[in-house]
Amino acid sequence: MSATAPKVLDRRRFLAAGGVAAALLVADRLAGAWPAPVQRGGYPFTLGVASGDPAPGGVVLWTRLAPQPLLADGGMPARAVSVDWQVAADPSLGRIVRAGTVLARPAQAHTVHVEVEGLEPARSYWYRFRAGGELSPAGRTRTLPAPGASPGRLALAVVSCQHYEHGYYTAYQHLAHEDLDLVVHLGDYLYETAPSDGQPRRHTGPAPTDLAGYRLRHALYRTDPDLQAAHAALPFVVTWDDHEVENDYADDQSERFDPPAAFRRRRAAAYQAYWEHLPLRRRSRPRGPAARLYRRLRFGDLAELSVLDTRQYRDDQPCDGNGVARGQVVAGCRERLDPGRSLLGTAQRRWLLAGLDRSGARWNVIAQQLLMAELELQPGPGLAYGSDGWDGYAADRARILQFLQARRTSNPVVLGGDMHSFWINDLHLDNHQPGAKVLASEFVGTSISSSGPPYEQYSAYLADNPHVRFFESRWRGYLRCQVDHRRWRTDLRVVDTVQRPGAPVRTLASFVVQDGRAGPQGA
Ligand SMILES: [Fe+2]
Repeated sequence: MSATAPKVLDRRRFLAAGGVAAALLVADRLAGAWPAPVQRGGYPFTLGVASGDPAPGGVVLWTRLAPQPLLADGGMPARAVSVDWQVAADPSLGRIVRAGTVLARPAQAHTVHVEVEGLEPARSYWYRFRAGGELSPAGRTRTLPAPGASPGRLALAVVSCQHYEHGYYTAYQHLAHEDLDLVVHLGDYLYETAPSDGQPRRHTGPAPTDLAGYRLRHALYRTDPDLQAAHAALPFVVTWDDHEVENDYADDQSERFDPPAAFRRRRAAAYQAYWEHLPLRRRSRPRGPAARLYRRLRFGDLAELSVLDTRQYRDDQPCDGNGVARGQVVAGCRERLDPGRSLLGTAQRRWLLAGLDRSGARWNVIAQQLLMAELELQPGPGLAYGSDGWDGYAADRARILQFLQARRTSNPVVLGGDMHSFWINDLHLDNHQPGAKVLASEFVGTSISSSGPPYEQYSAYLADNPHVRFFESRWRGYLRCQVDHRRWRTDLRVVDTVQRPGAPVRTLASFVVQDGRAGPQGA
């Protein structure tokens, strides 16, 4: 690529200067070096660029060729098209350090996943793509520290739940300007719901059930300029929750009792579209309805991040013999305590605990989709719990907390989403035992745009849940976490409204965890 890139740049400058005849001459000369124009008309990089899953020596670069992103084929011909890529050591992309060419194939919606290697650890890089004589916008990314390094700082954002219809992605506009190493996305990257009226924005096309439908939904979400800005500014580490496929699904059990074989086909289509549209590695690529998304990232001796998948391997929600398959509030449900049931599945739980056991990192971060803390939902006498979250799988949660206690894991921190609200929690084995040891610190971030639960109703639950240190559901935003060897700090970043674009951002509250002392404290 590096040999031909300057020609195209020259051509673009030339066109800008207005030399039409000379431009045609240059175009003729370039024609031999390039295949025929890829587009049936239009700029191919309408969905932006992204990077993700950084390692000490490399990162995944992503783009999709889609001159008409809301058409089924993206406006692309039914053939493979070559795409050049460059990685540079400077923002103006003058010092190219890696470059290559890959094929964007129709079988993968003309998406591109380049796994760049040979980069230096713990530094920023800039990248771009070229196809059919057009240049993509430039993106910035960052590699992880070397395994044996002792980095002085880690800064990451935690995001989730970006319902397109519920509002604008103003939070991402601000996040793109934060000084961070990484963005961790904990699910509900899109919502599978049908279009509805009376909201700030509207879904295109019906509720997706097949590959074409899920691709269209991903394309719609990725047309958003603020989401594109965040992806272009920072590497993402993503994991899915339920809405990337269907609300409250559990393994091959659908919300509406579809035959499992039919639901597995739907899940395969949804997983494929998700992989295509996000900067994931080849090892996460689905094979039918299965995809390995749980994985680990290491920040030298400072932190290790275990990213979980709490949908693909879980048992069905407990106590749904009443014909309601989705999550619900259940009282007197013994099944939710059944030690034979699992949220993570045996293989993933073993992988998690084995990794925590040998980590040796100062901070051990579990990045997962849900609220891990117990949340009792019956104000006053009586007990009731949600069946779709960890409370529906209490034995699996107890196994993890018992492990943290027995193995004295260094500074466990749980990150979560799904709740469309902030929850800052102490994690105990028994919340009803006064003075019980705090085993881990939990930070659940609010949604990017999805509407939050009723504030008064949820505030009424707090008296029965004394391990909750802070709750707030009225604002959309993200968590900003800054970590060094002494202290973890989380800022709750919020925008005033998502009903219209452009609202400012502010810090609603801040919490810290001191090294060796589990339990968030107000800062
Ligand atoms: Fe959500």
